[in-house]
Amino acid sequence: MKKIVVMTGAGISAESGIKTFRDAGGLWEGHDVMEVASPEGWHKNKALVLDFYNQRRKQLHEVKPNEGHHALVELEKQYDVSIITQNVDNLHEVAGSSNIIHLHGELMKVRSTVYDELVYEMAGDINLGDKCEKGAQLRPHIVWFGEMVPMLEIAAYATTEADIIIIIGTSMQVYPAAGLVGYAPSGIPIYYVDPNPTINYELANSGNLKVISEKATTGVRKVVNELLK
Ligand code: APR
Repeated sequence: MKKIVVMTGAGISAESGIKTFRDAGGLWEGHDVMEVASPEGWHKNKALVLDFYNQRRKQLHEVKPNEGHHALVELEKQYDVSIITQNVDNLHEVAGSSNIIHLHGELMKVRSTVYDELVYEMAGDINLGDKCEKGAQLRPHIVWFGEMVPMLEIAAYATTEADIIIIIGTSMQVYPAAGLVGYAPSGIPIYYVDPNPTINYELANSGNLKVISEKATTGVRKVVNELLK
């Protein structure tokens, strides 16, 4: 079975009603990103950070996967599909994709601030005083700016094995995620679905790039239909 690596960003969840980060009116509007998504912000105001992610987690109970997520599940009929996502929502899981690597963490999980290996499923709120089994404060299981990206090696290895790459809805600006495509075998087809594509250095040097300047719900369907022919 040929291997497809799909790299998704906030854009694939935009039509499900989840704001992107850098589009006008994006998620960071009204929030200084470093206040709510950095270790410094956490140490400065834990309650503000916990509330920010509690609000985003609450929203997950009201949104559903869109045609872009669902089309990717269909690819699994004929391909070995790995999804490498920068998103912290669970829409790829809800849609039914089987192999998902979350580079930037998961909203529906929390972890101990002291014992990194203590990770818990969490659908509700976490507040100051909520502790892990060893008595340390819980925090969102999210990779904040300046923190390590633990899944990077796994994601990079998967990319080196790809026969085809599909990039969907990411501004290709946040490294190391944006540089992953540089691990792809040279000359393989790279599809990039985004209404406002950003051709970063790695994409500019990729050699076999097919840009579909459309939204995920129509653009991903087009690519999937072509690949399932
Ligand atoms: N369909 C597809 N793509 C879309 C749609 C849509 N309906 N709407 C917007 N987009 C595209 C935008 O054109 C843009 O290229 O989605 C991308 C969103 O870019 P960002 O907001 O920068 O989101 P992303 O690339 O995922 O951000 C990367 O930055 O803030 C950090 O950790 C955060 O994971 C995030 C990372």
